Amino acid sequence: MDGNGRWAKTHGKNRVFGHRNGVRAVRQTTEYCARLGVKYLTLYAFSTENWARPSAEVTALMELLVYTLRRETKELNKNNIRLNAIGDLSRLPKNCQKELAAAIENTSHNNRMTLTLALSYSARWEMTQAVKNIAQQIQSGSLAIEDINESLISSHLSTAGIPDPELMIRTSGEQRISNYLLWQIAYTEFYFTEKLWPDFDENELYKAIYTYQQRERRFGKVLEKR
Ligand code: IPE
Ligand code: MG
Repeated sequence: MDGNGRWAKTHGKNRVFGHRNGVRAVRQTTEYCARLGVKYLTLYAFSTENWARPSAEVTALMELLVYTLRRETKELNKNNIRLNAIGDLSRLPKNCQKELAAAIENTSHNNRMTLTLALSYSARWEMTQAVKNIAQQIQSGSLAIEDINESLISSHLSTAGIPDPELMIRTSGEQRISNYLLWQIAYTEFYFTEKLWPDFDENELYKAIYTYQQRERRFGKVLEKR
């Protein structure tokens, strides 16, 4: 979800105004994805690198998160959506951690779609954690080097149990990955749009999915044509 700051600028407002309007796009996208039958939606909300932003912006984002979680849990339950979070959550302010844990707990029975928020997340952080974890298990003797394979590595990532993404959408015209799900996107289809995140709407979502549907996914193989 990129472009909140630029969106605010085009409206002559400060960056936080952009983030607030970004929440609207989150709410809509979540609802439309659930309606379309998407089972897993993962949103990159805050990266480990984002901690280096001015502290006023970081604080505003954390407050916005608390406020939104509090306000939206009911709606998630109404729509049968389970909330999940990945990332270095211990770095979040205590009240944020509490609110997040409560929202996750309060929606844990839902099964229509899993909405995962990547918060204080980076793929390199995640992979480093996984390597430490695996190394520890080897050191303690509960795992042998021969046991290391791709699925074991996947199971040590914070996305364990979530299928690899089929489609990744990045807004605001930037064409880079920015430390997101690096292991998981090996065969993901990418969709880049110039739209700034607060302007990302139902129409844009359908366009992205339509484009995805035109792609031929070969996973490195050759598909028989008849
Ligand atoms: C994305 O919008 C939201 C977060 C990273 C929290 P940006 O804040 O990156 O907006 P731009 O890139 O400055 O326009
Ligand atoms: Mg940005």
